Amino acid sequence: MFDKMLEAAKAQSQLAYTPYSNYKVSAAILMKNGEIVTGMNIENASFSLTICAERCALFNALSRGYKKEDMISILIYSPNNYSMPYPCGACRQVMVELLNKNTEVIVVNDLLKPEYYTVESLLPHSFDEGSL
Ligand code: THU
Repeated sequence: MFDKMLEAAKAQSQLAYTPYSNYKVSAAILMKNGEIVTGMNIENASFSLTICAERCALFNALSRGYKKEDMISILIYSPNNYSMPYPCGACRQVMVELLNKNTEVIVVNDLLKPEYYTVESLLPHSFDEGSL
């Protein structure tokens, strides 16, 4: 399924709205039913209002009715050959909230080999629903 996810992410990255950074990112989430739900970064002149690709894809998935148990894997892609689009701290926290701790997270660009993580490995000792 990696190839299908990457293909979906590549298509979605063309819709990234990045007039300020020109750093395009997209994300593709694989569902148990085989569907792939995508998102991309959308920037704003008021910079902090920018939404990252991962959160866009996750919110898209939830808005379509998917739950964390439906989501098998999230692939994060940037169409460049110089840096990996590692998820920012805010996105790691949102992934902890909306995905299972052992859900696969794949990070990839156009040059380097894909890297495989889990939600938990990207944000250990997280503050989550179990903390309250
Ligand atoms: N960005 C993402 O969308 N996801 C990441 O994994 C890293 C950063 C975006 C936010 C902003 O639009 C641009 O990349 C540069 O920070």
